Amino acid sequence: MHASGILHKLNKISKIDDRLYGSFLEHMGRAVYSGIYEPDHKTADQNGMREDVLALVKELNVPVVRYPGGNFVSAYNWEDGIGPKQDRPTRLDLAWHTSESNQVGIHEFADWAKKAETDIMLAVNLGSKGMDSARNLLEYTNHPGGSYWSDLRRANGQEEPWNVRMWCLGNEMDGPWQVGQKTADEYGRIARETAKAMRAFDGDLELVVCGSSTPYMVTYPAWEATVLDHTYDEIDFISLHMYFENEANDTATYLAQNHELEKYIHTVASVIEFIKTKKRSNKQVYISFDEWNVWYHSKPQDKKILEGNAGWPHAPAILEDIYNLEDVLQVACILNTFIRRADIVKIACMAQLVNVIAPIMTSKGGGAWRQTIFYPLLFASKYGRGTSMNVQVDCPTYDVEKIKDIPYLDVSAVYQDEDETISLFLVNRHETQTLNFNLSLAGFGDMQIVDHQLMVHDDLRAVNTEQNPDNVIPTPGDNAVLEGGVLDIPLPPHSFQMVRLAKVSS
Ligand code: AHR
Repeated sequence: MHASGILHKLNKISKIDDRLYGSFLEHMGRAVYSGIYEPDHKTADQNGMREDVLALVKELNVPVVRYPGGNFVSAYNWEDGIGPKQDRPTRLDLAWHTSESNQVGIHEFADWAKKAETDIMLAVNLGSKGMDSARNLLEYTNHPGGSYWSDLRRANGQEEPWNVRMWCLGNEMDGPWQVGQKTADEYGRIARETAKAMRAFDGDLELVVCGSSTPYMVTYPAWEATVLDHTYDEIDFISLHMYFENEANDTATYLAQNHELEKYIHTVASVIEFIKTKKRSNKQVYISFDEWNVWYHSKPQDKKILEGNAGWPHAPAILEDIYNLEDVLQVACILNTFIRRADIVKIACMAQLVNVIAPIMTSKGGGAWRQTIFYPLLFASKYGRGTSMNVQVDCPTYDVEKIKDIPYLDVSAVYQDEDETISLFLVNRHETQTLNFNLSLAGFGDMQIVDHQLMVHDDLRAVNTEQNPDNVIPTPGDNAVLEGGVLDIPLPPHSFQMVRLAKVSS
């Protein structure tokens, strides 16, 4: 099978916001407790944070971490997580039917984020709480001192404010599963008033309003139109979420799902444009895709806890999807979609970071290892910063029941001006056939291949485990050729590849 493409230096899509490779950490399952935090662990620092996990987070070069939820935030009292640890209350978490010990709160998380060299994106509770709780938290985190909440922070050991810039106004407020679910009008009004109060404190904050939880909600996309109508002038981003699954065990359909993602982004971008025009506004609102990932492997074993039939356990092992090679292909396709839509998607957070539907896994008292999906995120985060480029492709396609004309090749390209390199991210969706791809490069000068990594496995369902952490890892590719401005690269069936080209120095 053959595909050809053209990549011209002038054919740019957009500058990529580094925050496209963000992450998310929720107080649920073992994300925090025995994920980032385990005071008895042999690698724990003086705050009880696992250094082995921190090293993997740093390897991913995560630009931003959204915290503390998620569904959890909609019934969370942030004040429970400050002050002496022995005085912090244990609360019932209604979102996941578990107990929250509050041994980690904003102080511990902010200290950890600093060590992880990542920015913080805080979500406020607009479910069981509201504007008052949000403005108090903002004063606590961002005011230098001389007021009730800022002096309380200082008394709790943090002299300097954290100066958090990114704030989510609630989480998935359209969802019936949410504590304090709202209609679009109810939410739009509350979000607007909360945004106004937060902006009265600091006009330069970046505020994210909730869009739909999935494109399958019955309220989508009217939700976006109503919420943006209420909030457009007061916010900077609308948030979208989407999870991917292959419960039907149908790989061809599964790997076509990023076309639905593309449609979702396209539709919401159009709604933004509609409201912008309706309001005669010059301001551009962007998309924060602040939850996305594959989530389905763990659902059968989580049923008992999530349906509330296991009492109120603390930090149980829930949403611990173990990812395979097929998921690598899916995650790579999703990242390609974000890169191709870098004009409107400025923030994206893989959900989540550790243990809970995550690229990093730990065992309590044991090791930390990289799941298969760690690698496409790593490559994108390392080499996907720069300018997103348009690759014109001619490629054979296939159809599944609901989606037609899916090209076997999924590709994105990023150009880095500073070092004059091109990074290509390529997926072959075909089950059995190698796809021979010729890409003509124009306008870049004389280029050479400087890195080529390939992920492929005899078993599409192969996974990494604590005992066998390197079962599915990238290996150097050796059969791509760049000659006369044309890159020839064979893409094995069901494979993911990353290729970097650099200008030949004269
Ligand atoms: O990431 C898991 C959950 O998925 C989040 O808590 C929620 O926002 C979404 O439904």
